[in-house]
Amino acid sequence: MVLQGYPSPGEGLRLHLNENTGGCSARVLDAIRHARPNDVSAYPQYREVVDATARYFGVDPDWVLLTNGLDEGILMAAVAHIAKARVHDAETIIPQPAFDPYPNSTAAVGAKAVWVPPGPDYAFPTQAVIDAVTPRTRLIFLNTPNNPSGQLIDPDDLARISDAAPHAVVLIDEAYIEFGGTTFLPRLHRHPNVLLGRTFSKAYGLAGLRVGVVIGQAQALDPVRSVTLPFNINGIAMTAVQAALADTQFLPRYAAQVEESRKLVYAACERLGLKYWPSAANYVMVQVGDTAPFVSAMAARQIHVRDRSKDPTTPGCIRMTAGILSHTIRAIEALDSVMAKRQA
Ligand SMILES: Cc1ncc(COP(=O)(O)O)c(C=O)c1O
Repeated sequence: MVLQGYPSPGEGLRLHLNENTGGCSARVLDAIRHARPNDVSAYPQYREVVDATARYFGVDPDWVLLTNGLDEGILMAAVAHIAKARVHDAETIIPQPAFDPYPNSTAAVGAKAVWVPPGPDYAFPTQAVIDAVTPRTRLIFLNTPNNPSGQLIDPDDLARISDAAPHAVVLIDEAYIEFGGTTFLPRLHRHPNVLLGRTFSKAYGLAGLRVGVVIGQAQALDPVRSVTLPFNINGIAMTAVQAALADTQFLPRYAAQVEESRKLVYAACERLGLKYWPSAANYVMVQVGDTAPFVSAMAARQIHVRDRSKDPTTPGCIRMTAGILSHTIRAIEALDSVMAKRQA
Protein backbone atom coordinates (compact mmCIF):
# COMPACT_ATOMS: atom_id res chain seq x y z
CA MET A 1 0.00 0.00 0.00
CA VAL A 2 1.24 3.51 -0.77
CA LEU A 3 0.72 5.70 2.31
CA GLN A 4 -0.21 9.34 2.10
CA GLY A 5 2.61 11.65 3.19
CA TYR A 6 5.65 10.61 5.20
CA PRO A 7 5.43 8.43 8.32
CA SER A 8 5.81 10.31 11.60
CA PRO A 9 9.29 9.85 13.07
CA GLY A 10 7.74 9.89 16.58
CA GLU A 11 8.78 11.96 19.57
CA GLY A 12 11.85 14.17 19.32
CA LEU A 13 13.41 16.93 17.28
CA ARG A 14 12.39 16.96 13.62
CA LEU A 15 15.60 17.73 11.77
CA HIS A 16 14.77 15.51 8.79
CA LEU A 17 12.56 17.70 6.54
CA ASN A 18 14.31 21.10 6.57
CA GLU A 19 11.38 22.69 8.35
CA ASN A 20 11.66 25.89 10.38
CA THR A 21 12.59 24.35 13.74
CA GLY A 22 11.42 27.51 15.55
CA GLY A 23 7.86 27.36 14.23
CA CYS A 24 6.11 30.25 12.50
CA SER A 25 5.83 33.92 13.44
CA ALA A 26 3.56 34.68 16.43
CA ARG A 27 1.80 37.17 14.13
CA VAL A 28 0.76 34.31 11.86
CA LEU A 29 -0.90 32.45 14.75
CA ASP A 30 -2.56 35.64 15.86
CA ALA A 31 -4.01 36.24 12.39
CA ILE A 32 -5.30 32.65 12.25
CA ARG A 33 -6.97 33.06 15.66
CA HIS A 34 -8.76 36.14 14.41
CA ALA A 35 -10.25 34.40 11.38
CA ARG A 36 -14.01 35.01 11.08
CA PRO A 37 -16.63 32.34 10.33
CA ASN A 38 -17.01 33.54 6.74
CA ASP A 39 -13.26 33.25 6.20
CA VAL A 40 -13.84 29.53 6.54
CA SER A 41 -17.25 29.14 4.89
CA ALA A 42 -16.37 31.11 1.75
CA TYR A 43 -14.16 29.88 -1.08
CA PRO A 44 -10.79 31.60 -0.77
CA GLN A 45 -9.93 34.88 -2.50
CA TYR A 46 -6.39 35.16 -3.83
CA ARG A 47 -6.12 38.62 -5.39
CA GLU A 48 -4.99 40.48 -2.26
CA VAL A 49 -2.35 37.91 -1.34
CA VAL A 50 -1.11 37.67 -4.92
CA ASP A 51 -0.71 41.47 -4.92
CA ALA A 52 1.07 41.46 -1.55
CA THR A 53 3.36 38.64 -2.68
CA ALA A 54 4.13 40.44 -5.95
CA ARG A 55 4.99 43.64 -4.05
CA TYR A 56 7.22 41.64 -1.72
CA PHE A 57 9.15 40.11 -4.62
CA GLY A 58 9.09 43.34 -6.64
CA VAL A 59 7.32 41.85 -9.67
CA ASP A 60 4.08 42.41 -11.56
CA PRO A 61 1.13 40.46 -10.03
CA ASP A 62 0.67 38.80 -13.44
CA TRP A 63 4.00 37.10 -12.86
CA VAL A 64 2.82 35.40 -9.65
CA LEU A 65 1.03 32.08 -9.15
CA LEU A 66 0.40 30.85 -5.60
CA THR A 67 0.47 27.07 -5.31
CA ASN A 68 -0.29 24.44 -2.69
CA GLY A 69 3.33 24.30 -1.62
CA LEU A 70 6.02 24.59 -4.25
CA ASP A 71 5.47 20.85 -4.70
CA GLU A 72 2.23 21.64 -6.51
CA GLY A 73 4.01 24.26 -8.63
CA ILE A 74 6.56 21.64 -9.72
CA LEU A 75 3.85 19.14 -10.68
CA MET A 76 1.75 21.76 -12.45
CA ALA A 77 4.76 22.97 -14.45
CA ALA A 78 5.12 19.40 -15.75
CA VAL A 79 1.37 19.08 -16.40
CA ALA A 80 1.27 22.40 -18.28
CA HIS A 81 4.41 22.11 -20.36
CA ILE A 82 4.37 18.37 -21.03
CA ALA A 83 1.00 16.66 -20.45
CA LYS A 84 -1.28 19.47 -21.61
CA ALA A 85 1.06 20.35 -24.46
CA ARG A 86 0.69 16.68 -25.55
CA VAL A 87 4.40 16.22 -25.98
CA HIS A 88 4.82 12.44 -26.22
CA ASP A 89 8.60 12.08 -26.31
CA ALA A 90 9.32 14.81 -23.77
CA GLU A 91 12.44 14.82 -21.63
CA THR A 92 13.20 16.64 -18.42
CA ILE A 93 16.76 17.32 -17.26
CA ILE A 94 17.49 16.65 -13.59
CA PRO A 95 20.95 17.42 -12.17
CA GLN A 96 21.84 15.13 -9.26
CA PRO A 97 21.39 14.87 -6.36
CA ALA A 98 17.78 15.94 -6.75
CA PHE A 99 14.60 16.66 -4.85
CA ASP A 100 12.20 13.70 -5.39
CA PRO A 101 9.25 15.66 -6.86
CA TYR A 102 11.33 16.41 -10.00
CA PRO A 103 11.52 12.75 -11.12
CA ASN A 104 8.09 12.03 -9.66
CA SER A 105 6.43 14.83 -11.64
CA THR A 106 8.37 13.77 -14.74
CA ALA A 107 7.02 10.23 -14.35
CA ALA A 108 3.49 11.49 -13.58
CA VAL A 109 3.27 13.13 -16.99
CA GLY A 110 4.90 10.22 -18.81
CA ALA A 111 8.14 12.02 -19.66
CA LYS A 112 11.70 10.71 -19.52
CA ALA A 113 14.11 12.01 -16.88
CA VAL A 114 17.62 12.70 -18.15
CA TRP A 115 19.91 12.65 -15.13
CA VAL A 116 23.10 14.69 -14.95
CA PRO A 117 25.64 13.69 -12.27
CA PRO A 118 27.37 16.35 -10.17
CA GLY A 119 31.01 17.44 -10.36
CA PRO A 120 33.51 16.88 -7.51
CA ASP A 121 32.07 17.91 -4.14
CA TYR A 122 28.72 18.50 -5.81
CA ALA A 123 29.98 21.31 -8.03
CA PHE A 124 27.14 22.21 -10.36
CA PRO A 125 27.63 20.53 -13.79
CA THR A 126 26.66 23.52 -15.98
CA GLN A 127 28.23 22.32 -19.22
CA ALA A 128 26.90 18.77 -18.80
CA VAL A 129 23.38 20.17 -18.32
CA ILE A 130 23.74 22.22 -21.51
CA ASP A 131 25.09 19.16 -23.33
CA ALA A 132 22.04 17.17 -22.21
CA VAL A 133 19.61 19.60 -23.91
CA THR A 134 17.87 18.07 -26.95
CA PRO A 135 14.90 19.18 -29.08
CA ARG A 136 12.81 16.91 -26.80
CA THR A 137 13.78 18.77 -23.59
CA ARG A 138 10.69 20.42 -22.13
CA LEU A 139 11.62 21.11 -18.51
CA ILE A 140 14.93 21.60 -16.73
CA PHE A 141 14.89 21.41 -12.93
CA LEU A 142 17.58 23.51 -11.27
CA ASN A 143 17.77 23.80 -7.50
CA THR A 144 19.82 26.48 -5.73
CA PRO A 145 20.83 25.95 -2.99
CA ASN A 146 20.65 22.24 -3.76
CA ASN A 147 18.69 19.88 -1.55
CA PRO A 148 20.51 17.92 -0.10
CA SER A 149 24.08 19.13 -0.82
CA GLY A 150 23.49 22.81 0.07
CA GLN A 151 25.54 23.93 -2.97
CA LEU A 152 24.62 27.03 -4.97
CA ILE A 153 24.38 27.50 -8.72
CA ASP A 154 26.03 30.67 -10.03
CA PRO A 155 23.32 32.97 -11.48
CA ASP A 156 25.48 33.33 -14.64
CA ASP A 157 25.26 29.54 -15.10
CA LEU A 158 21.47 29.64 -14.62
CA ALA A 159 21.31 32.30 -17.34
CA ARG A 160 23.53 30.25 -19.68
CA ILE A 161 21.26 27.22 -19.30
CA SER A 162 18.13 29.27 -19.94
CA ASP A 163 19.76 30.74 -23.08
CA ALA A 164 20.84 27.28 -24.27
CA ALA A 165 17.29 25.88 -24.10
CA PRO A 166 14.90 28.58 -25.33
CA HIS A 167 12.37 25.90 -26.40
CA ALA A 168 12.21 24.48 -22.86
CA VAL A 169 11.08 25.82 -19.49
CA VAL A 170 13.76 26.16 -16.82
CA LEU A 171 12.37 25.81 -13.31
CA ILE A 172 14.77 27.42 -10.84
CA ASP A 173 13.83 26.10 -7.41
CA GLU A 174 14.93 28.61 -4.78
CA ALA A 175 13.13 26.97 -1.84
CA TYR A 176 16.07 27.78 0.49
CA ILE A 177 17.46 30.97 -1.08
CA GLU A 178 16.59 33.07 2.01
CA PHE A 179 19.40 31.28 3.89
CA GLY A 180 22.21 32.22 1.46
CA GLY A 181 22.99 32.81 -2.18
CA THR A 182 21.72 35.29 -4.73
CA THR A 183 18.23 35.03 -6.14
CA PHE A 184 17.75 34.95 -9.91
CA LEU A 185 14.75 37.28 -9.47
CA PRO A 186 16.39 40.51 -10.79
CA ARG A 187 17.35 38.70 -14.01
CA LEU A 188 13.96 37.13 -14.63
CA HIS A 189 12.79 39.85 -17.04
CA ARG A 190 15.49 38.77 -19.51
CA HIS A 191 14.48 35.08 -19.37
CA PRO A 192 10.94 34.42 -20.63
CA ASN A 193 11.47 30.63 -20.36
CA VAL A 194 12.30 30.67 -16.63
CA LEU A 195 9.94 29.86 -13.75
CA LEU A 196 11.28 30.76 -10.32
CA GLY A 197 10.02 28.61 -7.44
CA ARG A 198 9.80 29.94 -3.88
CA THR A 199 8.06 28.65 -0.78
CA PHE A 200 6.65 29.84 2.53
CA SER A 201 7.44 26.42 4.04
CA LYS A 202 11.05 26.93 5.05
CA ALA A 203 12.26 30.39 6.10
CA TYR A 204 8.71 31.55 6.96
CA GLY A 205 7.78 28.40 8.88
CA LEU A 206 4.47 27.67 7.12
CA ALA A 207 5.15 24.12 5.85
CA GLY A 208 1.97 22.80 7.48
CA LEU A 209 -0.18 25.31 5.60
CA ARG A 210 1.24 24.53 2.13
CA VAL A 211 1.95 27.71 0.20
CA GLY A 212 4.48 28.07 -2.59
CA VAL A 213 5.00 30.71 -5.26
CA VAL A 214 5.86 30.31 -8.91
CA ILE A 215 7.10 33.50 -10.56
CA GLY A 216 7.63 34.00 -14.27
CA GLN A 217 6.69 35.75 -17.47
CA ALA A 218 3.49 34.93 -19.36
CA GLN A 219 5.15 32.54 -21.82
CA ALA A 220 6.22 30.16 -19.05
CA LEU A 221 3.67 30.95 -16.30
CA ASP A 222 0.31 31.31 -18.07
CA PRO A 223 0.19 27.64 -19.15
CA VAL A 224 0.85 26.64 -15.51
CA ARG A 225 -1.87 28.96 -14.22
CA SER A 226 -4.30 27.52 -16.76
CA VAL A 227 -3.94 23.96 -15.39
CA THR A 228 -3.93 24.92 -11.69
CA LEU A 229 -7.28 24.32 -9.99
CA PRO A 230 -9.11 27.57 -9.10
CA PHE A 231 -9.22 27.02 -5.31
CA ASN A 232 -5.89 25.26 -4.88
CA ILE A 233 -4.93 26.82 -1.52
CA ASN A 234 -7.12 27.16 1.57
CA GLY A 235 -8.22 30.54 2.88
CA ILE A 236 -6.58 30.22 6.30
CA ALA A 237 -3.24 29.76 4.56
CA MET A 238 -3.89 33.04 2.71
CA THR A 239 -4.46 34.81 6.04
CA ALA A 240 -1.20 33.30 7.29
CA VAL A 241 0.81 34.46 4.28
CA GLN A 242 -0.43 38.05 4.69
CA ALA A 243 0.72 38.00 8.32
CA ALA A 244 4.04 36.33 7.49
CA LEU A 245 4.83 38.96 4.85
CA ALA A 246 4.00 41.74 7.32
CA ASP A 247 6.40 40.43 9.98
CA THR A 248 9.64 41.80 8.54
CA GLN A 249 11.74 40.88 11.61
CA PHE A 250 10.96 37.17 11.66
CA LEU A 251 13.05 36.05 8.70
CA PRO A 252 16.34 37.89 9.40
CA ARG A 253 16.26 36.64 13.01
CA TYR A 254 15.79 33.04 11.97
CA ALA A 255 18.33 33.24 9.13
CA ALA A 256 20.92 34.53 11.63
CA GLN A 257 20.31 31.48 13.86
CA VAL A 258 20.62 29.17 10.86
CA GLU A 259 23.98 30.71 9.99
CA GLU A 260 25.28 30.19 13.54
CA SER A 261 23.85 26.67 13.64
CA ARG A 262 25.59 25.68 10.43
CA LYS A 263 28.92 26.84 11.88
CA LEU A 264 28.33 24.70 14.99
CA VAL A 265 27.59 21.66 12.81
CA TYR A 266 30.75 22.27 10.73
CA ALA A 267 32.86 22.56 13.90
CA ALA A 268 31.37 19.34 15.31
CA CYS A 269 32.04 17.48 12.05
CA GLU A 270 35.64 18.70 11.96
CA ARG A 271 36.18 17.64 15.57
CA LEU A 272 34.66 14.20 14.87
CA GLY A 273 36.43 13.72 11.53
CA LEU A 274 33.20 13.59 9.52
CA LYS A 275 33.10 14.91 5.98
CA TYR A 276 30.47 17.61 5.41
CA TRP A 277 29.68 20.10 2.68
CA PRO A 278 29.41 23.78 3.65
CA SER A 279 25.81 24.68 2.92
CA ALA A 280 23.94 27.79 1.81
CA ALA A 281 20.67 26.36 3.17
CA ASN A 282 19.13 25.51 6.57
CA TYR A 283 20.64 22.02 6.60
CA VAL A 284 24.00 20.32 6.27
CA MET A 285 24.79 17.07 4.48
CA VAL A 286 27.26 14.89 6.38
CA GLN A 287 28.93 11.64 5.35
CA VAL A 288 28.58 9.23 8.25
CA GLY A 289 29.31 5.88 6.56
CA ASP A 290 26.75 3.25 7.46
CA THR A 291 23.64 5.45 7.60
CA ALA A 292 20.91 3.10 8.91
CA PRO A 293 22.44 2.43 12.37
CA PHE A 294 23.48 6.07 12.59
CA VAL A 295 19.97 7.36 11.88
CA SER A 296 18.44 4.92 14.40
CA ALA A 297 21.03 5.80 17.05
CA MET A 298 20.23 9.50 16.59
CA ALA A 299 16.47 8.72 16.69
CA ALA A 300 16.99 6.80 19.95
CA ARG A 301 18.39 10.10 21.28
CA GLN A 302 15.26 11.92 20.00
CA ILE A 303 16.99 13.54 17.02
CA HIS A 304 15.51 12.75 13.61
CA VAL A 305 17.79 13.23 10.61
CA ARG A 306 17.31 12.23 6.98
CA ASP A 307 19.01 9.20 5.48
CA ARG A 308 20.20 10.22 1.98
CA SER A 309 22.13 7.04 1.21
CA LYS A 310 19.60 5.58 -1.25
CA ASP A 311 20.64 8.20 -3.78
CA PRO A 312 23.73 6.82 -5.57
CA THR A 313 25.22 10.33 -5.71
CA THR A 314 25.11 10.77 -1.91
CA PRO A 315 26.37 7.44 -0.53
CA GLY A 316 26.79 7.20 3.23
CA CYS A 317 25.21 10.62 3.71
CA ILE A 318 22.62 12.03 6.06
CA ARG A 319 21.07 15.50 6.00
CA MET A 320 20.40 17.41 9.19
CA THR A 321 18.43 20.64 9.60
CA ALA A 322 20.38 23.53 11.14
CA GLY A 323 17.79 25.87 12.65
CA ILE A 324 17.31 27.22 16.17
CA LEU A 325 20.65 27.21 18.02
CA SER A 326 19.42 25.34 21.09
CA HIS A 327 18.11 22.57 18.82
CA THR A 328 21.42 22.35 16.98
CA ILE A 329 23.26 22.11 20.29
CA ARG A 330 21.00 19.19 21.29
CA ALA A 331 21.61 17.52 17.93
CA ILE A 332 25.38 17.89 18.29
CA GLU A 333 25.24 16.36 21.79
CA ALA A 334 23.48 13.37 20.26
CA LEU A 335 26.01 13.26 17.42
CA ASP A 336 28.90 13.27 19.93
CA SER A 337 27.29 10.47 21.89
CA VAL A 338 26.60 8.33 18.80
CA MET A 339 30.16 8.79 17.53
CA ALA A 340 31.67 8.03 20.96
CA LYS A 341 29.67 4.78 21.12
CA ARG A 342 30.84 3.88 17.59
CA GLN A 343 34.48 4.27 18.57
CA ALA A 344 34.06 2.39 21.86
C1 LIG B 1 14.26 21.78 -3.09
C2 LIG B 1 12.85 21.87 -2.62
N1 LIG B 1 11.94 22.40 -3.43
C3 LIG B 1 10.65 22.49 -3.08
C4 LIG B 1 10.23 22.04 -1.85
C5 LIG B 1 8.76 22.05 -1.60
O1 LIG B 1 8.36 22.87 -0.64
P1 LIG B 1 6.82 23.06 -0.32
O2 LIG B 1 6.02 22.14 -1.18
O3 LIG B 1 6.69 22.75 1.12
O4 LIG B 1 6.57 24.49 -0.65
C6 LIG B 1 11.13 21.48 -0.95
C7 LIG B 1 10.68 20.94 0.34
O5 LIG B 1 11.32 20.16 0.99
C8 LIG B 1 12.48 21.38 -1.35
O6 LIG B 1 13.39 20.80 -0.57
